[in-house]
Amino acid sequence: MGRAGTGSSCIVMISLLAVVVGVAGAGRQPFRRHLAAADADASPVGICASAVAIHGYKCQEFDVKTDNGYILNLQRIPQGVVPDNSTNRPPVVLQHGVLVDGVTWLLNSPQQSLAFILADSGFDVWIVNARGTRFSRKHASLDPNKSEFWNWTWDDLVAHDLPAVFGFVHQQTGQKIHYVGHSMGTLMALAMFSEGKQINMVKSAALLSPIAYLSHMTTKLCVVAAKAFMGEMTSFFGFAEFNPKGQAVESLLKYFCAQPGVDCYDMLTALTGTNCCLNASTIQYFLKNEPQSTSTLNLVHFAQTVRDGIVRKYDYGKTKENQGHYGQPKPPVYNLSNIPHDLPLFLSYGGQDALSDVKDVQTLLDALRSHDVGKLHVQYVEDYGHLDFIMGVTAKDVVYNQVASFFKNYN
Ligand SMILES: *[C@@H]1O[C@H](CO)[C@@H](O)[C@H](O)[C@H]1NC(C)=O
Ligand SMILES: *[C@@H]1O[C@H](CO)[C@@H](O)[C@H](O)[C@H]1NC(C)=O
Ligand SMILES: *[C@@H]1O[C@H](CO)[C@@H](O)[C@H](O)[C@H]1NC(C)=O
Ligand SMILES: *[C@@H]1O[C@H](CO)[C@@H](O)[C@H](O)[C@H]1NC(C)=O
Ligand SMILES: *[C@@H]1O[C@H](CO)[C@@H](O)[C@H](O)[C@H]1NC(C)=O
Repeated sequence: MGRAGTGSSCIVMISLLAVVVGVAGAGRQPFRRHLAAADADASPVGICASAVAIHGYKCQEFDVKTDNGYILNLQRIPQGVVPDNSTNRPPVVLQHGVLVDGVTWLLNSPQQSLAFILADSGFDVWIVNARGTRFSRKHASLDPNKSEFWNWTWDDLVAHDLPAVFGFVHQQTGQKIHYVGHSMGTLMALAMFSEGKQINMVKSAALLSPIAYLSHMTTKLCVVAAKAFMGEMTSFFGFAEFNPKGQAVESLLKYFCAQPGVDCYDMLTALTGTNCCLNASTIQYFLKNEPQSTSTLNLVHFAQTVRDGIVRKYDYGKTKENQGHYGQPKPPVYNLSNIPHDLPLFLSYGGQDALSDVKDVQTLLDALRSHDVGKLHVQYVEDYGHLDFIMGVTAKDVVYNQVASFFKNYN
């Protein structure tokens, strides 16, 4: 493995987890004092009640069942805080990244948070909670406390979950969908669009901190984590839940941080990049809600993406097994050049983002080089790190207003 980084798994494993379990440098670590709060599950009542209705917005909870039995929780903010009588609000689906859940769109004040801003700009907002996160731990027959529930990677989110969400929102609203993804949420959409799935239900997509190619992350801790996920990790956790609040992950993180050359001081910066514009109170609220579980296999798949430098399906490791699953010795590639060239895309990436590295974004843009020029809008934000795109206090002016105009332009 000559490549550095673990991609989105770094978000979790390192920045968030490190902060949560408290292995980061004592005292000077600015978020460490919030550790106690991080352990509490902040909102047993659901996201509408805990994070939306409190600001005076209408909110509805839905459960959507995928074609293979997973039950996903969605929140809908159907209109802005000042009700009007518009009946034709374009739906927007918001898909968060790995190891967090839908609440990440609601962390700052309503004037600063994307979900509220879109609702106040005339959109009908739908927030997804990925399978395995606290409100999406349900299945028609599988028990989330058993490993069968966790036998999946982001391939399955692409093949089953996102299509189910699009189908549901399209059916509920009778309209085509605008999409916003952050981090893993961008990968899910790019992969789904590349296979032509649900394309007839999409109007446009905004991709914040796009994650597809993951070969250029350089932090030492990511190197260690990526190696671990390619090696001992599955025997460490089995093919089971990766619960970042669990004992096993705490031990793992301590092990990573004890490796030569790994500096676990100020991990939030080391691993997500220098986020310019985070609010310390928002970070505290974030840690009350996150991190959330994913499957260990999902992180293994991300590590493969880092290693292989291409975007393709999960590699079973053995030719015979790949042959059995895919009918070919290597996993099929998601050919991003196959995304319909006239699909309006807005990409926003940050110069300080250690996960969505500028060089990897260039590789992505290269894959999209045949896209209709007028349909591909690219924004580069010099001083933004990975988390600024969801939590930055300046994100409204810098990014979200552009997203709202982009959607209106293609409505
Ligand atoms: C919306 O409709 C209600 C009654 O249906 C009416 O009282 C109200 O003035 C309308 N508001 C706007 C902004 O048109
Ligand atoms: C899973 O385990 C938790 C805690 O041990 C328990 O509260 C919950 O009811 C279990 N869920 C199912 C579906 O068995
Ligand atoms: C996991 O799912 C794959 C199919 O995707 C199946 O071949 C395999 O047997 C499953 N493993 C377990 C342990 O359930
Ligand atoms: C940071 O968050 C706190 C609590 O929500 C809020 O009172 C404060 O105005 C925020 N600061 C900025 C710069 O947005
Ligand atoms: C991807 O698709 C394009 C055309 O859509 C084709 O030219 C290219 O060879 C494909 N790449 C791979 C790796 O299959």
